[in-house]
Amino acid sequence: MKNKVVYPGTFDPITNGHLDIIKRASKMFDEVIVAVAENKHKKPLFTLEERVIMVKNSLKNLKNVKVDSYKGLLVNYLKKIKRFIVIRGLRAFSDFEYEFQLNLINKRLGNHIEMIYMMPDETYLYISSSAVKELAYHNGPYNKFVPLFVSKKLKEKIKSY
Ligand code: COA
Repeated sequence: MKNKVVYPGTFDPITNGHLDIIKRASKMFDEVIVAVAENKHKKPLFTLEERVIMVKNSLKNLKNVKVDSYKGLLVNYLKKIKRFIVIRGLRAFSDFEYEFQLNLINKRLGNHIEMIYMMPDETYLYISSSAVKELAYHNGPYNKFVPLFVSKKLKEKIKSY
């Protein structure tokens, strides 16, 4: 039970930075559930289903990693699946304030929840899903920062706009 963790995120789309965290977490824990949040307020470029497909495709070689999705509050999802350890990536000081708030809110709403923070490898410190999308919109080298399958999906999506 203690060795099962959840890595939640919007993953719009999943990047090599997320993959770095997931791969490292999969070596430390018995099971990692990558939970894709619907997150309507972020107005994702990809639908929830599309994001789940991209995450699944990117992680198919990691045997102890499962992919799931949820709508609504993270804390309710955690209670539903009875998992109370959450992993988050901390890329920069700018992430800290948001993560601090998220931690306190989740603790207040569900006091069994513990959050573990992992620093990304320095290669990925500056990557974000928004930066990747911005590069894709402007024909920049976005494919350096995402798996090949995601890069293809991103190309198709941008074309259809
Ligand atoms: N490598 C690359 N990028 C990373 C990263 C890493 N290791 N870790 C985070 N990021 C980026 C993401 O790409 C994303 O970039 P973007 O803002 O440009 O899209 C950004 O950091 C934050 O992404 P993410 O880690 O996916 O968090 P989030 O803020 O999108 O989602 C949830 C956080 C999943 C916890 C939250 O939104 C959620 O569950 N929402 C449901 C409602 C809820 O419970 N809210 C909390 C209580 S109010």
